[in-house]
Parts: sequence; structure tokens; C-alpha cells
Amino acid sequence: MDYRETHVPNAPTTAAHRRPSSTARAPVMRKRSLRDLDVAGKRVLLRADFNVPLAQDGDGRRVADDSRIRGAVPTIEYLRERGAAVIVCSHLGRPRGVVRDELRLAPVAGVLAALIGAPVRSVDDCVGPDVEAAAAALGPGDMLLLENLRFHPEEEANDAGFASRLAALADLYVNDAFGAAHRAHASVDAVARLLPSAAGLLLQAEIDRLADVFAGAGAVALVSGGAKVSDKLGLLHSVVVRADVLCIGGAMANTFLLANGTDVAASLAEPDMADEAHAIQAEAERHGCRLLLPVDAVIAQGPDQPPRARPLQLAEETLPPGWRILDIGPRSIEQFGAALREVQTVVWNGPMGLFEREAFAGGTRALARLLAGLEADVIVAGGETLAATAQAGVADRMAHRSTGGAAALELIEGRALPGIEALADA
Ligand code: 3PG
Repeated sequence: MDYRETHVPNAPTTAAHRRPSSTARAPVMRKRSLRDLDVAGKRVLLRADFNVPLAQDGDGRRVADDSRIRGAVPTIEYLRERGAAVIVCSHLGRPRGVVRDELRLAPVAGVLAALIGAPVRSVDDCVGPDVEAAAAALGPGDMLLLENLRFHPEEEANDAGFASRLAALADLYVNDAFGAAHRAHASVDAVARLLPSAAGLLLQAEIDRLADVFAGAGAVALVSGGAKVSDKLGLLHSVVVRADVLCIGGAMANTFLLANGTDVAASLAEPDMADEAHAIQAEAERHGCRLLLPVDAVIAQGPDQPPRARPLQLAEETLPPGWRILDIGPRSIEQFGAALREVQTVVWNGPMGLFEREAFAGGTRALARLLAGLEADVIVAGGETLAATAQAGVADRMAHRSTGGAAALELIEGRALPGIEALADA
């Protein structure tokens, strides 16, 4: 599974020495690029990931963060400039196969039209005779936004008949939905096998940035946070074999601390993941990956309680019964910083604490600022992590802000993603 050409220099100085041959990237097979398609006068079905956060605004809904819509603009402009009619489709939320008015794509249509500076026609379904008529009526440069694909259960079932109905709307298929590339759904997988297909500009840029994070000679670190070890097992196992540094924060770290004999009192943790935590630590040691856990923590009696003024020093103090670890402390940030200053690439996913509460956002924000000050290329993936960089005012100092969360982690992990696999080879 290699999606792009990579170059491994002759004299790696760091983790590349240790990377087992099974993880070295073979000479590669590229996926067909949008630039290889003749799109003039064609109708192009463009799968985008417009699964954006919505906020209630008076009586209506508005797009709370338009990054994913902005991400698709270069591909849409590329197609329109070359005389294609663009039929854009996406999912929004998880309506589970039924029409839910609050998950209609209308707010997205407004943002898209404003970003492109041209009208976007909308239809109230994504397949069927009305949609076919609307698609057939499009001229060069026109845009049509289909209704939420997941109003049909066949979308998530990767149903061949549903994919044929989508394919009937267009001459070509372009996938730019990186955030959904890990889903084997009809508009991502099955339809790509029915039309001449290509990767959109956003999808290709994400692949180029993420698929070979470990392929170069420079040292690589992963900073991983969030709630659960169980959600990230595959990633952690894969990363400790290939990365130089792994910093773990968030509630995930509690599971490692617990496994190592620290009393985490009422903190969120997964005691049944203790064996996995041991296995990951042993693998890290075997492969020369420095695994760093927090050394101090911001604690409170609960998320709604004020934090203790002084961070808990994990090696010296015991967490009082009933108390919880809710953020990492300043010494942990310093320790992470010392290790991260030694690497050339940092991938960050997951907050370091309960960052949606101001009292416990300090560690995540300090980490964002620390990363912004590094010379390393910093790749940020995941909605909460992107929000944290924005909150810290350093979003534009990151080398790459991925529009994918789970998809980005799976690609970094080295897994084949259905939405990429299904596309035609170059
Ligand atoms: C995402 O937001 O991660 C993607 O749009 C995929 O959404 P899903 O997890 O509902 O499939």
C-alpha cells in the first residue's frame, strides 16, 4: 500500500536505522491524479467530506468551522476552470439511513457558494429522476450539491445498486473526501469502480503529506492524547516500531500510569488495557522509541470542580481518593519539549486534558505553543486537535493541518484506505 513516490536517502541518522524492512516503503504505485483526466465538457461526480460542525444560529443552522469546505475549493475551481460541471456529494453526521432535516446540507451550500463566488444548485436527494434531470441540465462550470448521502442506508452498506445510481449522474468520479477515505461506503468505494476515477487535489495533498511520514531519514515523534488507548491501539503498536519519540497525554496516559502501578484514583482509565499498555511499552523499548508519559498532572475532584492550585508530582505524591487527573502539568510539557526538539517531524493527535473546560485546557494549549515554536514540521490531525491549535492562536504555524481525523491516523499507521484503494492507478 503505497500511494506516492518516496525517496529514502542513503545515510539515515535516526529511526530509519531501526525500522524493520517490513515497514520500509516499497517503490510506489501512484493513484491517478485529477490532472491526468480530461474534464472539459464532462460531468464530474466529486465526493467531498463536508461533515462539518454545525451551530444553531437563531432559527437556523450555520457551519461552525468551514475548513473542510475550504479544503475542497481548489479541486472545484480546477474542474470549473476547465469546463467541467461539478456534482458535489457528501455525508453530514450519522443519520443512519433516514432523512433528518437537521442534517440537510443546505448550510454547506451557502458557504460553498460564498467561497467559490458562484451559485450552487441544490436538490433534496442524491439519487433519483429529479437529481438525474438536475445533473443533465448542468453546463460547463455549473455546480450542483446533492443531499446528504447517508439519508440512504445503501450508502454505508456500500451498495452496488446505489453506487450505480450515483454513477449515472456523471462521466467521471473524483474523490476529495480525505476525512471519509477510511470508510468503505458506496460514494467512496463502490462508485469509484464504476466511472473513470482520480484523486482530487486535497486527497492527493493529504496522501503526499501523511503516507510517508516514516519514510524519510529524519526522526519522527507522535504526540498522542485523547480519552482511550483502545481507540488507538493499532496506531500505537505501529508507531512505536517506527517513531523515535512517543509522548502520551490525555486520559490515555492514565491507562499507562495505572499499568505501571500509579494509583490514578477516580481518573478516567481503562484497567483492561493494562496488558496492551505493557506490550506497547515493551515494543517501544525494543525498537528504541522513547515513550514519555506525564510526570505531573492538574487534578481536581471532578470536571466541574476547581483544580488544585499545585500540579500533582506523579513520582512523589499520591492522588487523593476520589480525585481525577484532568490535564498534564508544566513539567510534562517541558519534558515532552526536550524530546521533541530532537526530531524533524511531529504528528500530533488528541488533547492532553479535558481541554473543553478552561481550567483543564492549559496543557493542550501549552503543547500547541510548544509545537509552534519547534523547527520540526508539525502535522496536526483531528478536529479537537485542530481546534486546540486555533485556540492557542498557532494554527497557521503548523506544517500540515489534516482534514481527516481517523483517516489521517490510519494512513500514518500504514493501513490501506478503501477510498484510496478504489481509485484508478496512475
Ligand atoms: C469524519 O468526520 O471523521 C469523517 O467525515 C467520517 O465521518 P464518520 O466517522 O461519521 O464516518
